[in-house]
Amino acid sequence: MEQGGNVIHFISKIENIDFKESLEILAEKAGITLPILENGIDSKKQLLKEKLYEINKEAALYYHQTLYKDISKPAQEYVKKRKLDNKTLKTYTIGYAPINSNLYKILKEKGFTDEEILASNLVNKVGNNFIDRFKNRLIFPIQDVRDRYIAFGGRVLDNSLPKYINSPENIVYSKARNLYGLNVAKKLKLEKLIIVEGYMDVVSLHQRGIENVVASCGTALTEAQGRLLRKYAEKIIISYDSDAAGQAATLRGLEILASLRCDIRILQMDGAKDPDEYIIKYGNGKFNNLVDKAISLIEFKTKVLKKDLDLNNVNDKIKFLNEIAKLVSTVDNKIEQEVYIDKISMEYNISKEAIYAEINKLNYSRNQGKKTLESSYTRNNIIKKKKVLPDALLKRENMIIGILLEGKLEVYEQIKNILSPEDFKKEENNKIMQKLYEEFEKGNSNINNILEIFNDDENIISILTEIMANDYEIKNDKKAIEDLINNYKKEKLTNRKKEIIDSLNNKEIDKQEEISLEKELQDIILELAQIK
Ligand code: GTP
Ligand code: MN
Repeated sequence: MEQGGNVIHFISKIENIDFKESLEILAEKAGITLPILENGIDSKKQLLKEKLYEINKEAALYYHQTLYKDISKPAQEYVKKRKLDNKTLKTYTIGYAPINSNLYKILKEKGFTDEEILASNLVNKVGNNFIDRFKNRLIFPIQDVRDRYIAFGGRVLDNSLPKYINSPENIVYSKARNLYGLNVAKKLKLEKLIIVEGYMDVVSLHQRGIENVVASCGTALTEAQGRLLRKYAEKIIISYDSDAAGQAATLRGLEILASLRCDIRILQMDGAKDPDEYIIKYGNGKFNNLVDKAISLIEFKTKVLKKDLDLNNVNDKIKFLNEIAKLVSTVDNKIEQEVYIDKISMEYNISKEAIYAEINKLNYSRNQGKKTLESSYTRNNIIKKKKVLPDALLKRENMIIGILLEGKLEVYEQIKNILSPEDFKKEENNKIMQKLYEEFEKGNSNINNILEIFNDDENIISILTEIMANDYEIKNDKKAIEDLINNYKKEKLTNRKKEIIDSLNNKEIDKQEEISLEKELQDIILELAQIK
């Protein structure tokens, strides 16, 4: 009776009603007595997860031990060149996947099944062969805050590309929800956490006494990661690479952290491309100085702003003042505002009066704006009205995406007949659906690469991982999908019905049109009755 279980699970999820209610709805519809249901699917998934943690741990230890063997000379030399000491290798279980790595054999000997091994993504099946994902790479295992091994990053030992290969996301690994090194850093209970870009930055700083450090591993910081950081530290210091890409990533990360009301500072670094290079070159004391001198969000944004402007040019100066006023007025606290204004005035040689005057101007025009708007709606209200979508609808949209992500072509065909991407009300979902449709049309039912397609859009990535993590467990249940589609059909038909009635009430339409509309209306009413 697993099928029944799926449908009920499904109904309670989309309709947001409890399990018992969904049972009753179904029982009534089908006129059947329902079996006693156990949560069989959930425990099956849980079991597989446990297996993957075991597999990952075996793999991490295998790679780590291999690093010390004779066959691993190139890796040992590389580690030496990067100045990593043995304690660091142990702390982070750094390892080496040899050229002829055969993890499959090892895992089989330990009793894992093919299905479990493939689910770990550490081994791929190519034809009839099982091939390791990581070969001839230095291995950085990624652990979650509970020290479980959840994924791996593998670096080449030379300059070839790609420099890193990482594990794909799976049921134990969500890229957006984890930070490299947090399991180590959290044990220190320090008030500050430093966030860097790369594995190497984490391990290198840690080795030199800067132990409160984690990495976002080359992806843009997500909200979930922000919340994680906030949970473990009061102050967060961003120390991304000093190149343009690093600085752009800093700005994006900052917006996320600021929206979570974190206390953030930005570390500014000259003379090295990243924290690893810096601390090797200048030492721990100098790096700690940089930490102490790390600047606030406002100062960082002011700096970014100034970069493109020439303050000797009148127009640029006006623009600068304008933007500064906006920035400073985002600070609620008046005393804090004063501190910033003092600093900016000194650093950029602009009179405080000029900045205050600009802020006053801004406040004045804002108040004016408020007055004229208040007579009808406030601006916020208008925006809100447009954006709020009903929970049930969002759930339904997520659900369909979740189903499509399973990559079943026949399910896609079924959904395609009724729904187009434009039917998705949430903007991001609409984008996701467009891509999914494109991929399916290309005949690509391997939807695994969907995360890569949206690589740059952290917002969409976080929505997708959320959906994936939810695991809607519908699998092949035709009935469930039909229900879902019917919901949409109903909505579409009801909307069209309203449209037709409106048109029919409009005096201007001609007889011919009236007849055809009435005919359409009849059909719709019939169809609606059938759905119900
Ligand atoms: P080194 O160059 O050895 O010092 O490593 P790093 O850790 O400092 O790497 P880098 O600053 O170049 O990149 C930061 C992070 O982005 C890395 O730690 C990886 O997580 C990720 N990254 C870098 N290059 C690649 C790549 O080619 N593919 C993928 N998937 N991720 C990468
Ligand atoms: Mn580096």
